[in-house]
Amino acid sequence: MVFGLVTTLAGTKWFFADVLADGATPGEFLLNLADFPALANVNGSAVLTLPGAPAGLASIVLTRNSAAEFFAVDSTCAHNQCQVPPASYNPAAHQNEITCACHGSRYQANGELLGGPALRSLRAFSARLLSPTQLRVSIPEFRFTLGAIKSQPVSGGNRLKLTFPALAFLTYNVRYRATLSTAWTTVNFSRFASGPLIQIDYPGIGADGEVYVAAPRPAGFFSIITV
Ligand code: FES
Repeated sequence: MVFGLVTTLAGTKWFFADVLADGATPGEFLLNLADFPALANVNGSAVLTLPGAPAGLASIVLTRNSAAEFFAVDSTCAHNQCQVPPASYNPAAHQNEITCACHGSRYQANGELLGGPALRSLRAFSARLLSPTQLRVSIPEFRFTLGAIKSQPVSGGNRLKLTFPALAFLTYNVRYRATLSTAWTTVNFSRFASGPLIQIDYPGIGADGEVYVAAPRPAGFFSIITV
């Protein structure tokens, strides 16, 4: 089981993803567009793996259709579950399209089916530009809450407070990686804002867990996993 949290730290700006718990409210990722150069220009497209994605949702294809319009779709091909690549612009059709490399199914970047063998469209998610630099992607399957806040500096270094639902009888670790493509490393944490960062295992007690980690440089991503 993996619980995920995207935390992107750029300079003094802190962005994070809330993944909401109750199932009635969609899980929401806040993405800093500066972290995804492929999306800087219209018709740019990228495949993102979201830490903590629910089973069956490996990643999403995010495409910038215009300056302010983004499409986010499940990257799992509707034919036989291959992972589709980013979209590319088809000048003849004046649109961004996704072509599955396995058997050639074609979709519009918004997920709409253009040609088989797939018989249905890719699943689409809401992607909304909140500011020139920040995009919100909503994925309803996320049913747990994660949050991150900047904590007070401790011994000259900022800390990040991570909260997550910690089920009883499960033990959790905190992992970090600098980019979406680098490997996860387990990081030490403290249960307290000013305590030493020496703990690895967090025993769940059926209530929200709170841990403090050293704020990373460079920007990066956190996930909480059960071990
Ligand atoms: Fe994509 Fe067959 S799995 S076309």
